[in-house]
Amino acid sequence: MDLQELKNRAKQEIDKVVDLDEIEKTFKKYLGKKGEVALIFDSLKDLAIEEKKALGQEANVLKQEIEEFFEQRKKEIKNTASEIKQTTERIDITRPGTKMARGHLHPLTLVLKDALKIFQTMGFEIAQGPELETEWYNFDALNVPKDHPARDMQDTFWLRQNMSTNYKKQITNNNKSNKLLMRTHTSPVQVRYMETHQPPLRIIVPGRVFRNEATDAKHEAQFYQLEGLMVDKEVSACNFKAIIEEFLKRFFKANVEIRLRPGFFPFTEPSFEIDAKRADGKWMEIMGAGMTHPNVFKAAGLNVSVSAGHGWCGFAFGVGVDRLALLKYKINDIRLLYQNDMRFLEQF
Ligand code: PHE
Repeated sequence: MDLQELKNRAKQEIDKVVDLDEIEKTFKKYLGKKGEVALIFDSLKDLAIEEKKALGQEANVLKQEIEEFFEQRKKEIKNTASEIKQTTERIDITRPGTKMARGHLHPLTLVLKDALKIFQTMGFEIAQGPELETEWYNFDALNVPKDHPARDMQDTFWLRQNMSTNYKKQITNNNKSNKLLMRTHTSPVQVRYMETHQPPLRIIVPGRVFRNEATDAKHEAQFYQLEGLMVDKEVSACNFKAIIEEFLKRFFKANVEIRLRPGFFPFTEPSFEIDAKRADGKWMEIMGAGMTHPNVFKAAGLNVSVSAGHGWCGFAFGVGVDRLALLKYKINDIRLLYQNDMRFLEQF
């Protein structure tokens, strides 16, 4: 058996191989279980002991050499492959990139977050209350007369009164009207907060409210309010106006024209309505407000008598968050905020 010939032949063949598939085939041919080198080892058994030793050693050397040829060639093939890749595949850095789709906040959330932050910098604390309310907190405690039209089925979503007693216990208050409704405004949180906190206090209450009314461009059956309440010894309508003007200036980052009109709410006296000027020059009501009615303090269990040294007074306001969003983003229909139309939402 001519081992030298076999070695040369293997080397030549291995050097001609150009891809890794072929390498494997050639590897089998020479070094596989039934390959040419294996045949040599097989033939050893018929030889005399001396010859066996000599040829065996040579065959082992040959095997190692051929293995090295393969390793060497494999490296070469890999190198040329990556070389080819590097010269043919180029990154075109002038190509426009693909836009990554990122989630973002809903315009109402943006407005709420922004507004809350501004009030917090002015010393207001965030408070919250339940969306499912009792008649007491939503109306009675707020000095709303028993026959007020807002209590009507047409304006308020009343609940069938068979709700879980556990939950009812959590939100209701003995001796007071426990009839359940979806709160029509965030004002009940004023009372809830004052029941557990002593003045001086300043709170801001974000929340969802519900009205049983027909929807149009300015009205939805559910929308968001931002309630404010400040109670202290000497709080006046001037304080209210200053705070609201400062808020609006910071919120719109521009001077928005506003006007105060006399209004009426049972829980404030005097009451105002505040309008802001829209881009098209028309006025839009954005909040109701006023000086807290003494009956509200009483309902919350606050002593308001000046002779007792308390003499608390305060102002409250309820901002239509949706209305702020309409103004800020120059949207003309409140319903767009609730339809989740991607073409609309993607603009924010
Ligand atoms: N709760 C009133 C409404 O929903 C707004 C308001 C809040 C008015 C606080 C005065 C004081 O219209």
